[in-house]
Amino acid sequence: MKTIGVLTSGGDAPGMNAAIRAVVRTAHSVGWKVIAIRHGYKGLIEGNYKTVDTSDVSNIIQRGGTVLKSARCEEFRSPEGRAKAAKVIKDAGIDALITIGGDGTFQGAALLGKEHDISVIGIPATIDNDLVGSDETIGYDTALNTAVDAIDKIRDTADAHDRMFLVEVMGRDAGFIALETGISGGAELILLPESLTKMKEVKGSLNKVLESQRRSSLVVVAEGDETGGALKLADKLRGDFKQYDIRVCILGHVQRGGSPTARDRVLASRLGHAAIRVLEEGHSQVMVGIVNNDIKITPLKMTFGKKKDINFGLVDLAKTLR
Ligand code: F6P
Repeated sequence: MKTIGVLTSGGDAPGMNAAIRAVVRTAHSVGWKVIAIRHGYKGLIEGNYKTVDTSDVSNIIQRGGTVLKSARCEEFRSPEGRAKAAKVIKDAGIDALITIGGDGTFQGAALLGKEHDISVIGIPATIDNDLVGSDETIGYDTALNTAVDAIDKIRDTADAHDRMFLVEVMGRDAGFIALETGISGGAELILLPESLTKMKEVKGSLNKVLESQRRSSLVVVAEGDETGGALKLADKLRGDFKQYDIRVCILGHVQRGGSPTARDRVLASRLGHAAIRVLEEGHSQVMVGIVNNDIKITPLKMTFGKKKDINFGLVDLAKTLR
């Protein structure tokens, strides 16, 4: 019998609860014990944990956020912080740690595993969808649908007033949400951190919109775009587009909340289950992901610090359809 620790860390993502549930229930199905750690690495350092049973994860699959709470922990970035965490893990009798989160979470997990010979498995969960090793991350589909719902509503009011709206979506370093939200919402222009769009080009595209007699328009901007985000872009455009009453809407953390979509619940259930299965098979220091609809493992150290490619075919599609 093994004892598994599980925690959620970094920015929360809808579907984290479904992943926790799958970890706990799969572990129990093979007779393993699960210790749930609260508040991510911060809680780990502080020894904030308790043993959980299958009934503790009832009625959470549909909930957004994370019942284990999350945190961004500065102390864990230092070797001293990780040493404290390692001591807690050893004292608690944890044989392997499952971390549910994004690139920062996995970076910390990889260091903890290497420095203290601790077995670690990562489950990718971030609305940004920017982890190498999985076609999709937990939370992305829900965030995308939240953003599209918002865009549809903004379109109605933009059209009623003949306004231009600059809508900023999340994605610090990645444009996955912006690209697919933009396509789904029929945006006139999509600005992504992955592609450099000169102001001349931006203005040229918007002028074409005006020439086509469209009276309202919608631009989707990823927060990490080099323009500096929707507010800064609005300042740069106001002088040249006086005919438009330009408005900015920053969707922000609304994209991180809400009940996970069915797709995210299924993804999270598969990945939570896979994390226990790969431990049974003797793997460690890997992330479980889904590639072409199959479970795939990737060494943890290959999952962060690298950019996952966006689909430039979709970028071209968006340009054709606008
Ligand atoms: O990593 C997910 C994410 O939502 C990013 O898109 C965003 O830039 C960041 O987290 C915001 O983090 P915080 O909630 O700590 O401000």
